[in-house]
Amino acid sequence: MARHLITSAIPYINGIKHLGNLVGSQLPADLFARYQRGRGHEVLFLCSTDEHGTPAELAAAKAGKPVAEYCAEMHEVQARIAEGFRLSFDHFGRSSSQENHKLTQHFAGRLAEAGLIAEVNEKQMYSHADGRYLPDRYIEGTCPNCGFDSARGDQCDNCTKQLDPVDLINPHSTISGSTDLEMRETKHLYLRQTQLRGQLEEWIDSKTDWPVLTTSIAKKWLRDGDGLQDRGITRDLDWGVPVKKGDQDWPGMEGKVFYVWFDAPIEYIACSQEWVAAGKGSDWERWWRTDKGAEDVTYTQFMGKDNVPFHTLSFPCTILGSGEPWKLVDYIKSFNYLNYDGGQFSTSRGRGVFMDQALEILPSDYWRWWLLSHAPESSDSEFTWENFQQSVNKDLADVLGNFVSRITKFCRSKFGEEVPAGGAFGAKEAEVISALSERLTAYQGFMDAIEVRKAAGELRAIWVIGNEYLQDAAPWSTFKEDPETAAMQVRFGLNLIRLYAILSAPFIPDAAATMLAAMKTEDSAWPDSVETALSALQAGHGFEVPENLFRKITDDEREEWQARFAGVRT
Ligand code: 2FM
Ligand code: ZN
Repeated sequence: MARHLITSAIPYINGIKHLGNLVGSQLPADLFARYQRGRGHEVLFLCSTDEHGTPAELAAAKAGKPVAEYCAEMHEVQARIAEGFRLSFDHFGRSSSQENHKLTQHFAGRLAEAGLIAEVNEKQMYSHADGRYLPDRYIEGTCPNCGFDSARGDQCDNCTKQLDPVDLINPHSTISGSTDLEMRETKHLYLRQTQLRGQLEEWIDSKTDWPVLTTSIAKKWLRDGDGLQDRGITRDLDWGVPVKKGDQDWPGMEGKVFYVWFDAPIEYIACSQEWVAAGKGSDWERWWRTDKGAEDVTYTQFMGKDNVPFHTLSFPCTILGSGEPWKLVDYIKSFNYLNYDGGQFSTSRGRGVFMDQALEILPSDYWRWWLLSHAPESSDSEFTWENFQQSVNKDLADVLGNFVSRITKFCRSKFGEEVPAGGAFGAKEAEVISALSERLTAYQGFMDAIEVRKAAGELRAIWVIGNEYLQDAAPWSTFKEDPETAAMQVRFGLNLIRLYAILSAPFIPDAAATMLAAMKTEDSAWPDSVETALSALQAGHGFEVPENLFRKITDDEREEWQARFAGVRT
């Protein structure tokens, strides 16, 4: 039995995520976790909310709540929605946990001992009205280059020039609008990533099996002029992990916290400690410490492409720099972006479908199937309502749903609610078994390699084979002349339903559970061979006709939803 550690990028706490966020990390991670469990392997699948940083503070202020309270509430909201999508995390943790505080401080202490932390005095904009230092993007003013009046402190969106807040003419805080700003001296910690360039390069070069998207981004950042640099890992904020060296105070760093991108990936590890603290597991070290049993763990991370530099460079620097035997990631699966109906999803403008809204209009399987079968792997992909309607109506309703319904209803009407006997499988069935065996091998290959779209394509082809068989064998015609053969064909079909439930479960877990329940079996063991799997349900075994597995999306619904999600969420 192999052991798979699987993490999904942890979503920011502020706000509910859209379908593009979902398909870029949590959903494919869930697919892989369910598949590996289905194959009988041991899996630890972790995700959390990413709770620190200025956006969380500002969202809390906007909601008129203390930030800790806001985060606790939003964590519950995200956890409920994740359940709605059947995301099968072994634990859904919080980066603000005490476990993460301690572990983040521990890593900082180790990095300091290794001489990898520099203390740097720098100047930063302080806003008297806001009572805080302002991150560059929260300062706006007139661009000295092109005169654009809403240039940000880090860049002008009009002429793209990289800026420093001091370059801006008439700068003001975007939080309060105040112009009462002052450059103040403040001390920060820098992680000396440049010292680790050699080790990082060697590690990334050894990953010859990674997806091109992952390695191309990693190498670009590693080798380009402004790629790997020493990186500020502290901030002048109230909300976050207080800066400490292990459990010791850090002189001169009082009142400061670690930068959210320093503590967020450490939460992957801390989450497993939270999992133990919650009584769900007993030993986190055998997943994370190569000196405590994790050397035979395969660790896979899932994320959108914008997260790749943090996972290929920054987090590995933390791990390698600690000099301790922590498990490094084995495989990074990254995704391009999903666009929405001719443009981008936009959280601020409420453009596109958000996770809560999606579940209000249709069950999770419909979304899971479309999103996974259109995962933005080799390029960005696009959600359109036409395409969604077509996939659901065709793949789910016409192909899979229809197959299940026809077989079970026909059997009930002619043979009752028991698997009928009939003779041995014949030539047609042998052909189907051989076609399915080939497809199954391909399906497993794509699932092992996390080629999500291709795996979905194979699964669809597996369903189609059943439909074609039914069309061709036509037990309703056979029955008139030869009820014995018709019985065998139906027995074959009922067994196909059970096989489809097992193979489809990673994609559409609810429908798969309904199919298995209808076949009145709990035997969901992954098939060793198609042939033996198709003899699992023997003559006399009871079953029932399930409720319609999938309904079709009407043209009216499609038009209504298209108008409803076009923009400006209220
Ligand atoms: O992009 C994001 O949504 C980040 N919150 C992902 C963090 S992943 C990791 F570092 F924990
Ligand atoms: Zn400009």
